[in-house]
Amino acid sequence: MSEKILAITGPTSGIGKYTVTELAQDYDIIILLCRNFAKGNTVKNQILSEYPNKQVAIIKCDLSDLASVMKAATELMTEYKYVDCLINNAGVFSLTRQRTEDGYELMFGTNYLGHFLLTHLLFDLIMKSADKQIIIVSSGAYKFTSVGNRNFEYPLTYNPMKAYARSKLATLYFMQELNEQFSKMGLNVAAIHPGAVSTNLGKTKYNKTIGDAIYKLLDPLFISPKEGALSTIKVAREGRLYRGEYVYKGKRKAIESYGLNYFDRKRMIRETLEALQLNQFMSRT
Ligand SMILES: NC(=O)c1ccc[n+]([C@@H]2O[C@H](COP(=O)([O-])OP(=O)(O)OC[C@H]3O[C@@H](n4cnc5c(N)ncnc54)[C@H](OP(=O)(O)O)[C@@H]3O)[C@@H](O)[C@H]2O)c1
Repeated sequence: MSEKILAITGPTSGIGKYTVTELAQDYDIIILLCRNFAKGNTVKNQILSEYPNKQVAIIKCDLSDLASVMKAATELMTEYKYVDCLINNAGVFSLTRQRTEDGYELMFGTNYLGHFLLTHLLFDLIMKSADKQIIIVSSGAYKFTSVGNRNFEYPLTYNPMKAYARSKLATLYFMQELNEQFSKMGLNVAAIHPGAVSTNLGKTKYNKTIGDAIYKLLDPLFISPKEGALSTIKVAREGRLYRGEYVYKGKRKAIESYGLNYFDRKRMIRETLEALQLNQFMSRT
């Protein structure tokens, strides 16, 4: 029997950290894709202390830097022949307008574009695996905006909630496109809304003070990372049951009309391929 391989982004904090430490029991090899090696090492040691027989690898991957994403994918492709499950969990919420290395608005560039490129580059490996699974951690915030026309331009005005919502709506469209094109080839793809979870989201180095203050105020209303990780863990374990679904609290949830615009989805995918200079949707050998 072949070894089961999990790769996850954002395993160093909040929902991703709980997800990977819990799912470690289900996989033989766990690949931590993270931007901070020291934080990755802490999670690696935590997993190994509980499961000494597992193989845990850390690959540096800054999703706000497309060159770093390419380097990470190349490293992963050199080391491994397949990936059973890729969890696109990392995310950023920034109250201030920031640029990625490549000039995109930070949340759009990280939450959507970085993950799109990573998935594109690893797609062959995923399709070669037994489970053929991709889990996209999106957000119910997708409802707060439409995709608009200028996603790939650095915005002149900035509404953090709308910018976050746009990045998450894009991930929801990405899930639908993957499902439309590849479910017949056995791909199990689903998107998750974890709920409102008490994590480090929003506490970037630029707005940590405001982020902390908001969290202090709202914390009693938020659920724990353990509760927030419930849907991702459930879907990872029962992928076929959730093919093409949007999942909240461990149950399928209908995507509201804002998130189902066919033409917006097709345009978003087309513009993404142009921006990333890719000549097809997902790499295929
Ligand atoms: N918390 C909520 O209420 C909520 C609600 C809906 C959806 N979500 C989504 O859930 C996911 C997990 O977020 P969380 O709440 O657990 O937040 P978190 O505690 O801030 O964790 C975010 C993770 O993403 C990583 N990350 C951020 N920017 C990155 C980059 N440029 N490159 C690589 N990794 C990066 C972080 O790495 P570092 O440890 O190095 O910072 C961390 O591991 C996100 O996609 C978020 O949008 C959260």
